[in-house]
Amino acid sequence: MTDLTIERICRLAPVVPVLIIDDLDSAVPLARALVAGGLRALEVTMRTPVALDAIRAMRDAVPEAVVGVGTLRTATDVDAAVAAGARFGVSPGLSVPVLDAADRAGLPMLPGVATPTEAMAAADRGLSVLKFFPAEANGGAQVLKAWASPLQGLSFCPTGGVSEKNAADYLALPNVICVGGSWVAPNDAITARDWSRITGLSKAAAHLMT
Ligand code: 3PG
Repeated sequence: MTDLTIERICRLAPVVPVLIIDDLDSAVPLARALVAGGLRALEVTMRTPVALDAIRAMRDAVPEAVVGVGTLRTATDVDAAVAAGARFGVSPGLSVPVLDAADRAGLPMLPGVATPTEAMAAADRGLSVLKFFPAEANGGAQVLKAWASPLQGLSFCPTGGVSEKNAADYLALPNVICVGGSWVAPNDAITARDWSRITGLSKAAAHLMT
């Protein structure tokens, strides 16, 4: 269903925007604004009634975008997102039913972990690229720095509390492949349809060094 691995998706840009879309009409211009700034892998969270339609619309209208789905909590979520055309999946945690459904569908997954035990369980399933969530609340870049040596071979996408202020600290770590965050698509900018502001935030994010 997709030619992309989660590693390739995470390497498309330093930042994966985490999107909460309330108004379906904003989905396509939002995707265009982010892509114009250089961010191509987009995570549409399953937290609003229009999320699945937003994925469909963005995928159809903005082929340069790699549109994924976030906040996957059940196998049913996975099946619905795959049917809508999501090309990768993100989850807050490490759920076996979610991972099994994604495997059946061939959906590349970025599951969330917050401890070495969870990271090891993910590695046992053959996963080597993981979301560290919620990153700041769990100790931030210092924790990932401490994981680098004992958890060699695993890469992380810290998400949750990541912003333009601390993204560079994470991206400087050898075991950080990219970061996720909502700061590039602030709710007030989406509501105001201020697409140029979002493109500006994306450009700055796309120029962060990995
Ligand atoms: C989320 O749960 O919404 C994501 O982790 C994004 O978090 P952020 O809003 O702190 O970037």
